[in-house]
Amino acid sequence: MSEPPGASTPSPRTLRTLHFATVAALGGFLFGYDTAVINGAVTAIRSVFGVGAFATGLAVAMALIGSAVGAWNAGKLADRYGRLVTMRIAAVLFLLSALGSALPFTIWDFTLWRLVGGVAVGMASVIAPAYIAEISPARGRGRLGALQQLAIVLGIAISQAVNWAIAGAAGGGAEATILGLAAWQWMLAAEAVPAVLYGLLAFTIPESPRYLVTRGHAGRAHRVLSTTEGGDVDERIAEIRESVANDHRPRVRDLRDARTGLLPVVWVGIVLSVLQQFGGINVIFYYSSALWQSVGIDESRSLLLSLSTQIFNILGTVIALALLDRVGRRPLLLTGSAGMTVMLGAATYAFGHATTVNGEPNLADPYGPMALVAAHAFVFFFAISWGPVVWVLLGEMFPNRFRAPALAVAAAAQWLANFVITATFPPLSEASLSMTYLGYTAFAGVSVWFVLRWVPETKGRTLEDMDRTALTRTG
Ligand code: GLC
Repeated sequence: MSEPPGASTPSPRTLRTLHFATVAALGGFLFGYDTAVINGAVTAIRSVFGVGAFATGLAVAMALIGSAVGAWNAGKLADRYGRLVTMRIAAVLFLLSALGSALPFTIWDFTLWRLVGGVAVGMASVIAPAYIAEISPARGRGRLGALQQLAIVLGIAISQAVNWAIAGAAGGGAEATILGLAAWQWMLAAEAVPAVLYGLLAFTIPESPRYLVTRGHAGRAHRVLSTTEGGDVDERIAEIRESVANDHRPRVRDLRDARTGLLPVVWVGIVLSVLQQFGGINVIFYYSSALWQSVGIDESRSLLLSLSTQIFNILGTVIALALLDRVGRRPLLLTGSAGMTVMLGAATYAFGHATTVNGEPNLADPYGPMALVAAHAFVFFFAISWGPVVWVLLGEMFPNRFRAPALAVAAAAQWLANFVITATFPPLSEASLSMTYLGYTAFAGVSVWFVLRWVPETKGRTLEDMDRTALTRTG
């Protein structure tokens, strides 16, 4: 980031910034871990508490509602108490949720603990992109921001691996006992480890310089900026000061004030969030077994397939990380949108043409493999584009003084959109899987137009430079 061209080893400044961004990205790891850990535990919980599909579904969905609540409130906390305090509060909630949900008395307090974990996920989803964007020099901001998505996808994958290892160690399924507790309890409790790590490491990083300037601590901001960016720090402080100059702390309510001219950029953030979810990415991660079985792939293979989609997800994210600051955000989003539209279209066709024999999927037709290839390619296109880029953009596209509340609103919209897709998939796919996919294809198609028309390029620009020119139209 600040090394001279051609330097082979990163400078101490680059390493320091990487450390700061990585700690914030740990919040993303917990986000991925928490949303996916439930997969391995859900069937056991259902049988242990003797509850039906509705109570189980509620217990799972509550976490997503909690995330929307957490995201919505994270903006206020981050502006009032700071970015670091918000991270520490999220870490404590993650810890409480891990322990509480591992040792529940009834399905109801279990649901409550999952809700608490969801609140932490929502908070982490706001604070990681905001903090990383605010601490990063313009040149490397995309790459550092994408660390959050890398952490999310690793969190999803590692939670599955830990679940699998715990079930294996217990010598049976999720209900088998090991060291006095059932495997599913260990699965949930294991999240305490990254939660504690996140909370402790949040004491090793400095407060965001942009936040410090808003609170009148220019001296402290100066010290932080000299460790991360170097160059003419006084000038940077003056720019930040100018961009945050106002006489009150912004709140969510202020975003609605048309006179600030901010409304359009907030809408762009909300629509980006919703479109990211409406392609149905999480259907692949939350319902993969059901998907594959509908095209004739049996359950034992479907586990392996969910692993292979994770690998495509991680690979794609690493590629995006390398490309974000070179090719920019818009080209990646456009490539992703186009690729996702084609692949979702192919999946729609495959699901619509898969045939059955005596009510069972017909293994002899080519549509199962076609759906499989399309789904993997779809995940890959998502991973190189909308997965990381949306979080990076949400961290950087809003003006300094509105970042926290605007990001909070956009992220809350994303969690609600995630909830809508997750809750509607079972009934919609039962009515018609291919029609459901046609809907996702249509949203992916709309995303091409949306990027072309509304999404600004932010590559290489300082946050303050973006503040000066309204970021509501393509540059
Ligand atoms: C993005 C999405 C999240 C999804 C993940 C999958 O982070 O926001 O909902 O689960 O990508 O990689």
